[in-house]
Amino acid sequence: MENETIRERYGPWALIAGASEGLGAAFAHAAAARGLNTVLVARRGDALEGVAAEIRAEHEVATRQVVADLSEVDAPLLIATALSDLEIGMLIVNAASEPQGPFLDLPLAKHLFAIDVNCRAPLALAHHFGQEMVARKRGSIVLVTSLGGLCGLPLFSSYGASKAFGWNLGECLWDELKPHDVDALSFVVGSTRTPNLERSGAPETHLRDAVAPQIVAENLFEVLDGGPTQYSQPEVEEAADRLFKISRQEAVGFFSEQNHATFPSKAN
Ligand SMILES: NC(=O)c1ccc[n+]([C@@H]2O[C@H](COP(=O)([O-])OP(=O)(O)OC[C@H]3O[C@@H](n4cnc5c(N)ncnc54)[C@H](OP(=O)(O)O)[C@@H]3O)[C@@H](O)[C@H]2O)c1
Repeated sequence: MENETIRERYGPWALIAGASEGLGAAFAHAAAARGLNTVLVARRGDALEGVAAEIRAEHEVATRQVVADLSEVDAPLLIATALSDLEIGMLIVNAASEPQGPFLDLPLAKHLFAIDVNCRAPLALAHHFGQEMVARKRGSIVLVTSLGGLCGLPLFSSYGASKAFGWNLGECLWDELKPHDVDALSFVVGSTRTPNLERSGAPETHLRDAVAPQIVAENLFEVLDGGPTQYSQPEVEEAADRLFKISRQEAVGFFSEQNHATFPSKAN
């Protein structure tokens, strides 16, 4: 989609939830490169200020930062209130919590935290800003998800389950909001070399194969109106197609083997 079209079609401000580093920061840069003002949301205010300063130095757009922890029940309301004077034309929900380890070994609180960040917050943000977009008859909602949402993801159980939730929700929004001229989609991301992935304990071989966040972010802007599910790269779509074709046992087994090999220290 042409840059001018994106701003006109959706509105002047893009809100990126989870924008203080890595992929979220790359989404914000990609939005700003297309002339959209950016609202950056995350927990670390200093990191948000750094991303915002880079964006303002590189692009002629305005920025606003909202420090919020999306695990907190009232965070979406806090964000909505802080932005009540802005027209949010794009909502990209990128932030995620990824508890790692066998399901029963992790404290329940960690699983519930992930559900709050990965399910409750995206749903509440989409509900609030979706209503505003429908009233204006323009807008775009992107829920960032993962191949791990396609089937059981051993060692990342609540994360994988939450990504299935976002995947499904994004597809539904695509259908329900389309008659109101609002685009929505689930954006399935493959292995991406973010600081978060680097901190995860994945071996260097795994990190080397991971794609740069900037590539993923640029690709998103090519598929915004393509819903209901779009993929960060052709290889990710091919991987999803393979997973759709094999049995559930094989699919879960594939991820089990891969995750135990990639994250041996998390396995017990
Ligand atoms: N990287 C990959 O390989 C990969 C693969 C598949 C899917 N994905 C998906 O891509 C998205 C980005 O994941 P990523 O690991 O690459 O991370 P990232 O986008 O590089 O960073 C995550 C962002 O989310 C923010 N965040 C995390 N928890 C938050 C909370 N409770 N409240 C507010 N903000 C929060 C972090 O900032 P603060 O710490 O400052 O809050 C950070 O800005 C996720 O939806 C993930 O499921 C990533």
